[in-house]
Parts: sequence; C-alpha cells; structure tokens
Amino acid sequence: MIDVHVGLGARSYSISIGSGILAEAGARLSNLAKPRRVAIVTDAHVAALHLPRLMEGLKDHAPTPIILPPGEGSKGFAQLERLVDELLALEVTRSDVLVALGGGVIGDLTGFAAAIVKRGMNFIQVPTTLLAMVDSSVGGKTGINTRAGKNLVGAFHQPIAVWADIDLLESLPDREMKAGYAEIVKYGLIADPAFYAWCEANAAHLLKGNREAISHAVAQSCRAKAAIVAADERETDDIRALLNLGHTFGHALEAETGFSSRLLHGEAVAIGMAQAFRFSARRGLCPPADAERLTAHLQSAGLMAFPGEAGIAPDAADRLVAHMLHDKKMTSSGLPFILARGIGDAFVAKGVPLEEVTAFLVEDLAR
Ligand code: GLY
Repeated sequence: MIDVHVGLGARSYSISIGSGILAEAGARLSNLAKPRRVAIVTDAHVAALHLPRLMEGLKDHAPTPIILPPGEGSKGFAQLERLVDELLALEVTRSDVLVALGGGVIGDLTGFAAAIVKRGMNFIQVPTTLLAMVDSSVGGKTGINTRAGKNLVGAFHQPIAVWADIDLLESLPDREMKAGYAEIVKYGLIADPAFYAWCEANAAHLLKGNREAISHAVAQSCRAKAAIVAADERETDDIRALLNLGHTFGHALEAETGFSSRLLHGEAVAIGMAQAFRFSARRGLCPPADAERLTAHLQSAGLMAFPGEAGIAPDAADRLVAHMLHDKKMTSSGLPFILARGIGDAFVAKGVPLEEVTAFLVEDLAR
C-alpha cells in the first residue's frame, strides 16, 4: 500500500494506492469522518462490476447506492439535478459522505454535487479507470458539460480521500488501459525524465496488468500531480496548467471527432502530446530527437501519435484551430500552449501566433 499526501493545509488528503482497498473501506471511512449517511454514486456499468464489493466494504455505514446511466451524457445538468434531488431526499448534511465509484464522469459529477449540496459536503473518490486514478480523481476539479462545451461549469472541491484500488483495473478494457497510460507518460514529459525512461522500460509490463508496475506508475503520477496541485491549486500560477500538456491539441482532435468513442480522451492526449513536442521542435525549442523518441514510445505502447492515425482529415487544420479557440483555457492574452524544451521540461508558452499553429497543423496532418 502506498500513500501519497496532497498538501493543501486544512484541505489536505491522502491518495491510497494498492490492492484490496475496497475491503477496508469501512475502517478507512471511520478514520476520516463520522457520517450519519453515506451515499455511493456510480453508473450502471461500474455498479455491475464493483458496487457489491464496495457495499460490502462499507456495510457498517449502511451506504445508499445511487446508480446513474453510464457514459459522458450523464455529465450534465439533467443527471446533476437528479443526483442533487436524491441527496436532498436522503437529508444529507455537510458532514455526510458521498463516495464516487467510477471513472472521470462519475468523479467529476459527484464531486460537483458534493461542492454544491449544502454549500459543500465531504466526498471520496474511488476511481475505477487508470485515467481517473492518475488524473481526474486527484486535485479537486469537478464539474459538468453544457451545450456550450465540456467542463465549462464546475468548482474546485477537494475530496477527503482518494482510494485507488488497483484490483479494479482487472476488468478495464485494454483500450482504456492504454488511454490512461497516456496520462502517466505525461508526468514524465512534464518534469521527470527519469520517470519517462522508466515508462519506456516498463510500459509493456504495465499494460499487461503487472501490479507492481501499475502501482509504481499510479503512485509516481499521483506524487507528481499532488506536488503541482499543492503549488497551484486553482491554476493561477502557470504551474497546474502544465497538466494540460497535450490537451490543447488533443481537445481539438476530440472536438473534431465529436467527442465520440472514435477517439478516447487519453488517446487524443497521446496524439496531442506528440504534437506539442513536434510543434516545440518546429519552433526550435526542443531537439527533434525528443519528439521522435516520444512518437516511437507512444506507438510501441499501442497509442497513436499522429492525427492521421485517428482518421483526422488532411484538410482539418483551420477547424482544429477553431476548436482550440473555443477551449476554456483561452485567456485575454490568447491561447496558452504547453510546449517543451525537451523530455521532462515542459513550460507554458503564451502569445504563440495562431498562424504558426495552423502552418504546423497543415504539415502535421499530411504526415
Ligand atoms: N486534469 C488537469 C488538472 O487536474 O488540472
């Protein structure tokens, strides 16, 4: 069992990573809070796989399950309203506890409900995907999608604990393991060349389900994210924004494919990170060999590195830039890009001329 501390003063919490955590959930919860009511929020797909185990672990707390429809479509006002209504019908108080059992959709939605019900109540993240374990369950970003775009309504609301039980990954499809792996590679690329080299040496192992490799990678990713969140919880100091490496390019690719299962978020981030490195190399910031090394690693891990591999049309450059301009990260000083001086050395670049981005995309889409 590995514990990673997220140091946020009175809002500090632990991310526990290991095997068999759900079986200890009751005792773990009793150490954290004295809730009168506990509700487990999950979706129908995850409920069939993992809810009985968590209900059993929490049986001394008599949890109430709330089961929502699976899929990104649940992350909106309709299911938020339903969830909030159910919680109010249960007469929860601020010291009661919501447990989010699921991937990013359930974690973000439940976290947001926890942020607004009774002006903020306790919640615990129990991520069930690799991507949620290394990214979305940590750091307190919560929210929903609206007609105008993804994650445009939300709140920073930290959980009181994250329980990353790696046993839950046994049922995760290979494609989702790989998509989550992209976010692991991201931490090496941002600031940790030694961890990036570890990824190159251990990806095959990890993706085959080796528990030691998975635990190490999840812990290392959570340590990196915890340090960034502790330094810049609300993304105001150009530190947390580094976590968006690959996301500006990747988000545009997701928008171009209609946020469909044609391209999973992590798959888009993999291509987006490779593009960020190629763009950095084109601008003379980063050795081209580093961009090539990243491309080779992503492809050897079974991820894509070029938009063409995801079926993005060669004439998509202008549309991709238009998608970027709708990105929520657009500020008064333009669209910030996370670029790199090399593997393990990412930085926030402002004032990047959009014509340069378009010219890069035209070339990149032809590859
Ligand atoms: N997923 C990016 C962040 O948590 O800031």
